Amino acid sequence: MNQPDTAGARPTAHSADGPIVNVEHLSVWFPRHYGQVSVLDDISFSIARGETLGLVGESGSGKTLLSQAALGLLPPSARTSGRILVNGVDVLTASEKQLARIRGAVAAPVFQDALVSLNPNRTIFGHFTDVWRSARMKPQGGAKEAAAQALRLAALTDVSRVLASYPHELSGGMRQRALIALALFRRPALLIADEPTTALDRLVEVDVLATLRGLQRELGLSMILVSHDMDVVSHMCARIAVLYGGQLCELGPTPEVVSRHIHPYTKGLIASVQSLKDRARPLQTIGGVVPHPSSFKPGCRFLSRCPIGGPECQAPRPKAVVGSSEGWCFHPNSLAAPAVETTPRGVTR
Ligand SMILES: Nc1ncnc2c1ncn2[C@@H]1O[C@H](COP(=O)(O)OP(=O)(O)OP(=O)(O)O)[C@@H](O)[C@H]1O
Ligand SMILES: [Mg+2]
Repeated sequence: MNQPDTAGARPTAHSADGPIVNVEHLSVWFPRHYGQVSVLDDISFSIARGETLGLVGESGSGKTLLSQAALGLLPPSARTSGRILVNGVDVLTASEKQLARIRGAVAAPVFQDALVSLNPNRTIFGHFTDVWRSARMKPQGGAKEAAAQALRLAALTDVSRVLASYPHELSGGMRQRALIALALFRRPALLIADEPTTALDRLVEVDVLATLRGLQRELGLSMILVSHDMDVVSHMCARIAVLYGGQLCELGPTPEVVSRHIHPYTKGLIASVQSLKDRARPLQTIGGVVPHPSSFKPGCRFLSRCPIGGPECQAPRPKAVVGSSEGWCFHPNSLAAPAVETTPRGVTR
């Protein structure tokens, strides 16, 4: 692969040692749609360089909004508070010029549906030429060879044919791999993959995820992997963040989150995955559906579906710390055997 021109996007002296992503008290709301109700509610977390974070939650939990926010791609109607530092730059207040430098060179997206992400009127090679034109890159060893190398990195074979193909001429798995190759072309430090394999059948999904994992390790990438599938994130990610109704329910190392979850929502997600895998067990589901933002209530938004919650859960959520994990719940002791520390009520993060 050519040496990318990432001059404008190199980490600054200030940011090089810090986390690649630092989200501080992020709230997002759409005044025209839901008034002052935040669809992302006081979210804080960070991602170390080289670390993978799985973002998991049911449909409508805010995963895509959070991913868009991290790339400075929120819709114009969105209002925000807090900060999202990517490589030390606050993408919520960055200029278009700064954002253009960050996108692709520092943080690159891979979205769910490659057919939507790719231009139907451009060949795959055309997409690569668009990337280096917009980034003013000069691929070494020739444009075709640089693109071919990128495709091979994403485990594509028959690269000449792929480069000459239009998106609709490729299989779903090949398109997704082409998208990964395009995202990695400028060697970003962070990949933001929003349900990158959801549109694929299971066998192809496993294969593409394995490629992604290999690349992440080989290139030392940080990654945010968005999924509604707890099984996928627990196999792919070192840490997991569980979102519900725009609130962070739980955040911690994967083994801890999976084995001694703090929040009842995490417990419900894991129980439903396990019951799907174990045919001898009855199928377990979380009763009810994620409420629409217009019906969000104060306090914990999971309350309407929570098996253990009570009126106390309408107050600001306290933070419990169990081992290296954090969970925002009034009743962490009823779920986790180990002793937990609970911050005073009203102190959220
Ligand atoms: N442009 C927008 N205008 C108004 N509300 C929006 C907008 N984008 C998202 N929302 C609302 O924000 C909430 C979170 O949406 P988001 O798309 O982030 O969910 P998600 O977790 O990615 O769901 P899915 O798994 O279905 O992709 C939803 O209630 C959605 O209706
Ligand atoms: Mg989404």
